[in-house]
Amino acid sequence: MCNSFRLNNGTEIPCIGFGTYKATDGTGPEIIKEALKAGYRHFDTAAFYENEAEIGEAAADFKIPREDLFLTSKVWKADMGAEKTGKSFEASLKRLGTEYLDLFLIHWPRPDLKKDWQGPLAETWKVMEELYRAGKVRAIGVSNFMPHHLEALFGSADICPSVNQIEFHPGHTQETTVAYCQEKGILVQAWSPLGRKRVLEHPLLKELSGKYGVSPAQLCIRYALQRGVLPLPKASSYERMKQNLDVFGFEISSEDMYRISSMPPAGWSGEHPDFERIYFT
Ligand code: A2P
Repeated sequence: MCNSFRLNNGTEIPCIGFGTYKATDGTGPEIIKEALKAGYRHFDTAAFYENEAEIGEAAADFKIPREDLFLTSKVWKADMGAEKTGKSFEASLKRLGTEYLDLFLIHWPRPDLKKDWQGPLAETWKVMEELYRAGKVRAIGVSNFMPHHLEALFGSADICPSVNQIEFHPGHTQETTVAYCQEKGILVQAWSPLGRKRVLEHPLLKELSGKYGVSPAQLCIRYALQRGVLPLPKASSYERMKQNLDVFGFEISSEDMYRISSMPPAGWSGEHPDFERIYFT
């Protein structure tokens, strides 16, 4: 297994990224510097996370050459459409302190569940395509899209998205979306590849953790990689950050891959692009 994936436009992307949602709360840039120290070079952020400035600051303090980093950001629902998308992109660049992004994603397909979404989506994608053609971003993609959202996008798109970032972990593998994307050459990225810890105590993962001599978190990350899915784990301690990168010394057998893939539903966040969020008590 190699340490990068190749996107459908030829761009190389480090095969594990650091998820940053809520990562800098209370720590500022320090947590990002820890992740850089641990070896992460691929960072996934979004305008909505309100931590682009901290990531930019950490990268500057760490004095890492820009070309050694892979930076992803996303346009938020409220900033979709022909007028706002470009401005949101420029604001993200400024906060990150960079001249370009490696990957820019539409965060959610539907800006407002009660209104038409196909129109704003098509307008947003057109701006993304212009940013890509202008060389301001190395690849463009989407997040939290299901096949029907992608079909709608294809109605007006000139460029096929390179990436679809979705919730993906044992117990919630969104098989229909993964199969659809992989068939079309769209790389699937996994947000919450550890199910925000909710699946780490599952008996199957505990059993396999003993068998392979790795932690349940390492199993989840390796599982994603073996599915051709790029995991974006979060961690707040240096040890866990390192551990989550240390997934190349074992291989999950195809039988155990099937067992994980057919686990009963578990650990879903409650987020779905077509419905209001469900909160589990
Ligand atoms: P912590 O922040 O205390 O390090 P996800 O990436 O699926 O959203 O999951 C993130 C959660 O998983 C965080 O609560 C994080 O805890 C925890 N986590 C990250 N890495 C590990 C690990 N190697 N072992 C156990 N828990 C982990």
